[in-house]
This record gives sequence, structure tokens and C-alpha cells, in this order.
Amino acid sequence: MKRILHVSCSPRGEVAESFRLARRIIERLQQNEPTAHLTHRVIGDGSLPHIDADHAQSQASDSDVSPVGSMARSEALIQELECAHCIVISTPMHNLAAPSALKAWIDHVVRVRRTFTITRSGKVGLLADRPVYVAISSGGRFSGELARQPDFLTPYLKAILPTIGLHDLRFFSVQGTNAAQEYVLQAREHAEQALQEHFTDCTATPCAHWRKD
Ligand SMILES: Cc1cc2nc3c(=O)[nH]c(=O)nc-3n(C[C@H](O)[C@H](O)[C@H](O)COP(=O)(O)O)c2cc1C
Repeated sequence: MKRILHVSCSPRGEVAESFRLARRIIERLQQNEPTAHLTHRVIGDGSLPHIDADHAQSQASDSDVSPVGSMARSEALIQELECAHCIVISTPMHNLAAPSALKAWIDHVVRVRRTFTITRSGKVGLLADRPVYVAISSGGRFSGELARQPDFLTPYLKAILPTIGLHDLRFFSVQGTNAAQEYVLQAREHAEQALQEHFTDCTATPCAHWRKD
């Protein structure tokens, strides 16, 4: 059975624009694989604490300091990632970057000796690659001719996720949610078209939606 892991990062939960976009992605994945099991990992509500002192210490030493506390939470979150055949991350842009909830999740799952290793030529990811769909919502625009702000969210995710072996990243966005409703509807339509194109292109190779194993 295929498994979808949805990491939901907006404090607005299920009414969030990014959650809405993620739902559209998940619907298409489930059309492709109707029996796929879906896990919602909700972190936007602040339920995921920051990593603790032992965890931070282990990142700077040669061995893991403690198997309890946030190291245990980290292990559970990493196992959830490992089980997933594809991952959907729904996230707003906060202050040009990732919201703190998403950053806290990344601090848990990007762990030396567990999801990446350090070599002479740099960090090497240890997770098997699989598709990661990123559903972003932003009040203003961060890409295209109408962008009026820098974007530290997508470049960051493009750098950090490959660090743990996740290279197959697919970005979709609804930008400009602070604009008038007609423009928000246009932005949603734009995202819908991008999804349509992506999933139509992939029908020739359905496996492209899922981890190969
Ligand atoms: C703390 C905070 C910071 C924000 N910073 C930005 C920003 O830098 N750029 C932007 O375009 N929108 C920003 N926004 C607006 C959100 O990105 C926008 O409302 C988005 O649609 C929320 O998505 P959601 O409904 O999925 O939470 C910010 C919102 C909050 C709450």
C-alpha cells in the first residue's frame, strides 16, 4: 500500500490556503492510487517543540547523547518520512521564509548520522529519494514579473531537503492571497493549471508520483 505523508505547517490549519492547495495535490495522488494511506502530520498549531539541549549537543559530537526527549521525537518523525512513498508539505511564507513550525520540523528530521552524513566533499543524504510536493501560499508575490519581495523559502527547501536525500521536489503556489478576491481566485486557477499540467505529464509514467521500491 502506498503512503502519503502530509506535513501541514500553517497556524490556520484546515482553512489555510496552503492546506487547500495540498488537498488538491493529495486528491490527484489518490486518483492515481485510490488505496493510498494518508497521514496528516499537523505542526502549524505549534504542537512540535523546538529541539532540546541533548539533541543540539549530539549534532556537535561524535555520538548521540540521549535517546529520549527530542531525539525520540526526531526518530519518530524520521520514521514517518521513511515510510512515506511521497510527501506533501503545505506551508505559508512567513517573513520571506519558512514559518517557524516548518523550521522546527526540519531541525528534527535533518540529523547527522541518521538522515545525512558528512564526507570530505560535503553532506550526503541517507534517505531514499521520493517525490516531495510543496504547496506554498503567500500574501504577496515572490516569483514572476510581479514579485516585489525576495524569496528565502523555496531556495531554502531546495537546499535543505536534498541534504537528507530528498531531491525530487515539485513546487506549487497560490501567491497574492492578500489581494482582492478576484485575484486570489485567479491565483488558485493558475495553481490548478500547473497541477493539471504536472499530473497530465506524469500519466505516461504513473510511478513518477511515488517512491521507487
Ligand atoms: C507572521 C506572518 C508573516 C508573513 N510574511 C509574509 C511575507 O513575508 N510575504 C508574504 O507574501 N506573505 C506573508 N504573510 C502572509 C501569508 O503568507 C499569507 O496570508 C498566506 O496566504 C497564508 O497562508 P495559509 O493560509 O496557508 O496560512 C505573512 C503572514 C504571517 C502570519
